Amino acid sequence: MSGLRARILRAVEADLQAIEAALVANLTPHLDLVREVAGYILFNGGKRMRPLLLVLSARLCGYRGTYDVVFSSALEYLHAATLLHDDLVDGAATRRRKPAAHRIWGNAIAVLVGDFLLARALSITAATGNPKIVAVLARLTEEMSQGEVHQLQRKGDPALTEEEYFEVIRRKTAVLFETACRVSALLAEAPAAAEEALCAYGLGLGYAFQIADDLLDYTADSARIGKDVGSDLREGKMTLPLIRGLALAGGEDRARMIAMIREPGFTEADFAWLRGRLEESGALAYARRAAETRIAAAKRHLALFPDSPARRTLEDLADYALERTL
Ligand code: IPE
Ligand code: IPE
Ligand code: MG
Ligand code: MG
Repeated sequence: MSGLRARILRAVEADLQAIEAALVANLTPHLDLVREVAGYILFNGGKRMRPLLLVLSARLCGYRGTYDVVFSSALEYLHAATLLHDDLVDGAATRRRKPAAHRIWGNAIAVLVGDFLLARALSITAATGNPKIVAVLARLTEEMSQGEVHQLQRKGDPALTEEEYFEVIRRKTAVLFETACRVSALLAEAPAAAEEALCAYGLGLGYAFQIADDLLDYTADSARIGKDVGSDLREGKMTLPLIRGLALAGGEDRARMIAMIREPGFTEADFAWLRGRLEESGALAYARRAAETRIAAAKRHLALFPDSPARRTLEDLADYALERTL
């Protein structure tokens, strides 16, 4: 295990225990099947990035209550719901080294249990009685679903621009990270400047997290990351490494890449070739720099807060988004 990961795990050990307990306690399904499927997606090795962001940000804002932990489970339920739906839409075979839920229980159950998890998140949100938090969560779910629709709509189109890519990942991923930070500031009734700084941190981290995920889809080892490497290309998903690789490619290479994007039935050898081209042309390094820039900026926003263990762990989490291999 990397030193960074070990340090984070040490720092958040007690928080993670509280988060795990809240995830169990707040689920409350009536049906065993719902418990089984929700449990499968919830308790199978997720990193708990979003709950941790919420709890640590709340601490940074001086929050003294206990609702941050409860609320952190709402965000993880929402995340789990999007994973159930996302794997179905993406036709993903594997998540966290196991078969994706829709492959075990079928599409209908995956969709419906996703809906249940989303509804649990909204009920927990409503229980805050805070209209600002309710509005933030309602807006978030609108954004996330539209991010996924937008991505689907532009599937297989080699003309997708970087600008449009960033719009998609803002909606489907970054806004959830931002929301984790915003809710903590709202719970703590933090000053507007603190809320904005935390939101800017969360948003930047969210962008970088998705760019890193998109890089891993080209560079990782499937067994280690627990999902199938190369699936973005197989799904015709235009992500930053590929968008940049295409822009840098000359005539013949470009034609071959476009054929692979449009015709997902490529071979292992084709994929190895593409990976090599993205590496050699500097497209992977370019995407990595895009993530690094956002991480550096995200960490700078934390400078508004005095140094504290929570701030240091939030800085570590930002670095971890780039370093992670799973
Ligand atoms: C996966 O999120 C979906 C993306 C936004 C890339 P995570 O990598 O946080 O998923 P788990 O919950 O830790 O498996
Ligand atoms: C995930 O994007 C975004 C959401 C789940 C909303 P990806 O499709 O890249 O995530 P993985 O790779 O399946 O985890
Ligand atoms: Mg996916
Ligand atoms: Mg991915």
